[in-house]
Amino acid sequence: MKFSIHQQAATDYTGDCLILPVYRLQTDDSDSANQQSALFQQLDQASNGTLGRLLHSGDISSKTGQTTWLYSLAGMQQKLLLVGCGKPADFTAVVFRRICLAAATALRESHSTQALCALTDSAHLSASADWQLRIAALEFSHANYHYTHTKKPADDAAPAITAVAFASLADSAQLDQALAIGYGVDVARNLGDLPPNICHPLFLAEHARQLADDCSAVEVEVLDVEAMQALHMNALLAVGVGSHVPPRLIALHYRGAAAEAQPYVLVGKGITFDTGGISIKPGANMEQMKYDMCGAATVLGAFFAAVKLQLPLNISCVVAAAENMPDGRAYRPGDVITSMSGKTIEVLNTDAEGRMVLCDALTWSQRLQPAAIVDVATLTGACVVALGHHASAVMSKHDDLVTELLAAGQSSLDRCWQLPLWDEYQKQLDTKFADMKNVGGMPAGSITAGCFLSRFTEGQRWAHLDIAGAAWEWGKNDGATGRPVRLLTQWLMDRAAS
Ligand code: BES
Ligand code: MN
Ligand code: ZN
Repeated sequence: MKFSIHQQAATDYTGDCLILPVYRLQTDDSDSANQQSALFQQLDQASNGTLGRLLHSGDISSKTGQTTWLYSLAGMQQKLLLVGCGKPADFTAVVFRRICLAAATALRESHSTQALCALTDSAHLSASADWQLRIAALEFSHANYHYTHTKKPADDAAPAITAVAFASLADSAQLDQALAIGYGVDVARNLGDLPPNICHPLFLAEHARQLADDCSAVEVEVLDVEAMQALHMNALLAVGVGSHVPPRLIALHYRGAAAEAQPYVLVGKGITFDTGGISIKPGANMEQMKYDMCGAATVLGAFFAAVKLQLPLNISCVVAAAENMPDGRAYRPGDVITSMSGKTIEVLNTDAEGRMVLCDALTWSQRLQPAAIVDVATLTGACVVALGHHASAVMSKHDDLVTELLAAGQSSLDRCWQLPLWDEYQKQLDTKFADMKNVGGMPAGSITAGCFLSRFTEGQRWAHLDIAGAAWEWGKNDGATGRPVRLLTQWLMDRAAS
């Protein structure tokens, strides 16, 4: 998809579709804060008041997120896509994002492949023109994603969007950024959506290599079972041992800054399928556990977005890839495992496998002498209970790092929310038989998982993101969301700018 800025009058646009906002206005109010966009007013006049009449009759909806197509409006070559925006007073950044996605989805489902989007530069939003442009472009990119790996589109399927021009006064650099971030989101969604018989640990390693092939500044390192045994990564290995596909530790390194600059390290949970292992999960919805590698998918996506952006940082991406299966050799409840750090772990539930693979990946990552480590994981069902699908959880003992991640989430609208990592929770991990057990019981399940990881990052500037609710959508829009690629990329961009 190509993005551009259309600097001429919107009426000079020669493509086949024009997208414009429709606000729900208070009648008989001439206040300029209560007006349709200048373009709407212009087209209304040119059509002798047709737009106004259709709005009044309800044929055009101003309801937030509803779209209306108009064909053959008097004086217009193009078809119009009118996008309901609700009341100007309620028009927030989140609503703006929503109407952009609604417009992009309607365009994607139509037979038009190009459009001029006049949703940006809204006077009803306090956010800058640059911000509006970047968000709008990312929503078009989002709507254009289509999974095709194991199902080809029908012959009569609506075509992909090929070009979007934006009526905007913003800096066109925003569009290059949106393309890079959109690429990273697509990488993550595609990996997340792939079935677990295709996307297994070896596939992830191979895929990471392929993505790196195009990038000369990226180095790839893949640790196989022998290499991990030599490093005593027994927690990661224990999870992988039940599967016929062996586990891997995958590391990618990008040098965009001086060799001595400390790297930002992203660590991802890459459980390509989570059956629960011997503590097997119930059957219902188990297929969703193909998404249990979305931490890995999103750190890869954010990493390659940052590479495309050529950020002046050193960045590493570390993926702990394994499949959690029940088997005669599988690890079992009661096992005590000595992790790479030397700390011992009593396994009380083999379904708490994410923290097992991550603890060794976190220990290994410290060799890179990171400026900061952020791990990303679909770690706990409890996180879905706590925050639902609208926020990732962020946990850290480093308040400044939390502040950075909260801010990046807010500005990218890929938001996270803090849960406490107070020491009081740590004792839920106590056991007679090891330095810790791998589950902390029912209370505060997401926090005790974070507490577990914190024991492997002592002295590090580290934060943990639990993305269990955000990583994929259930039901109608079933599929990987690519979250939190936008958040992570924004965080890295902010680091590069500071
Ligand atoms: N991958 C799951 C967490 C998960 C479950 C994410 C449902 C999204 C939706 C994780 O490995 C897991 O099974 N966690 C257990 C931990 C428990 C055994 C302490 C959980 O949440 O039940
Ligand atoms: Mn599990
Ligand atoms: Zn899991």
